[in-house]
Amino acid sequence: MNNPTLKIQIAGVELKNPVMTASGTFGSGKEYSEFVDLNKLGAVIVKGVSSTAWKGNPSPRIAETYGGMLNAVGLQNPGVDVFIKEDIPFLRQYDTKIIVNVSGKTIQEYCEVAEKLSHADVDLVELNISCPNVKEGGITFGTNTAMVEQVVKEVKRYCKQPLIVKLSPNVTDITEIAKAAVSAGADALSLINTLLGMAIDIHKRKPILGNGMGGLSGPAIKPVAVRMVYQVAKAVEVPLIGMGGIMNGEDAIEFILAGATGVAVGTANFTNPTATIDVLQGIENYMQRYGIGDINTIRGNLR
Ligand SMILES: Cc1cc2nc3c(=O)[nH]c(=O)nc-3n(C[C@H](O)[C@H](O)[C@H](O)COP(=O)(O)O)c2cc1C
Repeated sequence: MNNPTLKIQIAGVELKNPVMTASGTFGSGKEYSEFVDLNKLGAVIVKGVSSTAWKGNPSPRIAETYGGMLNAVGLQNPGVDVFIKEDIPFLRQYDTKIIVNVSGKTIQEYCEVAEKLSHADVDLVELNISCPNVKEGGITFGTNTAMVEQVVKEVKRYCKQPLIVKLSPNVTDITEIAKAAVSAGADALSLINTLLGMAIDIHKRKPILGNGMGGLSGPAIKPVAVRMVYQVAKAVEVPLIGMGGIMNGEDAIEFILAGATGVAVGTANFTNPTATIDVLQGIENYMQRYGIGDINTIRGNLR
């Protein structure tokens, strides 16, 4: 088959293909650019950026688990001003879309970052209201419909780019949160962030992570993520970016069949630095195998 179409649209922004990097697992692309041709990616979703520098959580920040990992990095970053000055010019050298992930401890902090980014050369903004690793803000915004509406509505006032809201899986009914985000103005949703977890060192009788608890990611969470994408795709009309344990093209196709427009690769980058490119190749192979001419035709298309 000649040149299958991989192009997708997220809130009016065209991506050359559905493959993106999951926030916090690919930095701003610099570290990976010697392994991955960033021109090949649909978008780079960068690490979380806050209004001022955050130093993150005490170590250890990472623990391996069966089929995944726990992290409690705590959104360490140099702050939005440094990010705009150093990372955007780097990424703009490449023919890929830039999606900036925004963190905050208060609504005001989220708004400050959105306002600064509104003058910067970025394509989309992704609002992280779902991080389990910070004491204030983060997940507390993402698990309560009233808070979701409030933070999304406020940020939307400052944001010039289309706004993606990133949902937490640590809720009973993900569709209620998704509907609240969309009714407050989210142009797209991404899901899922990590699942709150914990691991204990039985010899020291202490939690392994310095922070006590952390976020579980990797293949272990994929069935939960696919289920949530499936449910949310039926509940709202906006495009979805699906993520959670995507290791190869077949995993990505599962998310697209569940209803995702785009996919993001996270934890897989740590074990395989070229995971994003392998996922893209795997999607192309699947399209070839089943004679699919346009990736958009299989979205949510379960028999
Ligand atoms: C080390 C690490 C750091 C992360 N940092 C962020 C972040 O800054 N902002 C965010 O929205 N999600 C963050 N995430 C969540 C991922 O973007 C993704 O939603 C989650 O890990 C599920 O995908 P995966 O199983 O492919 O990793 C982080 C995940 C990991 C493992």
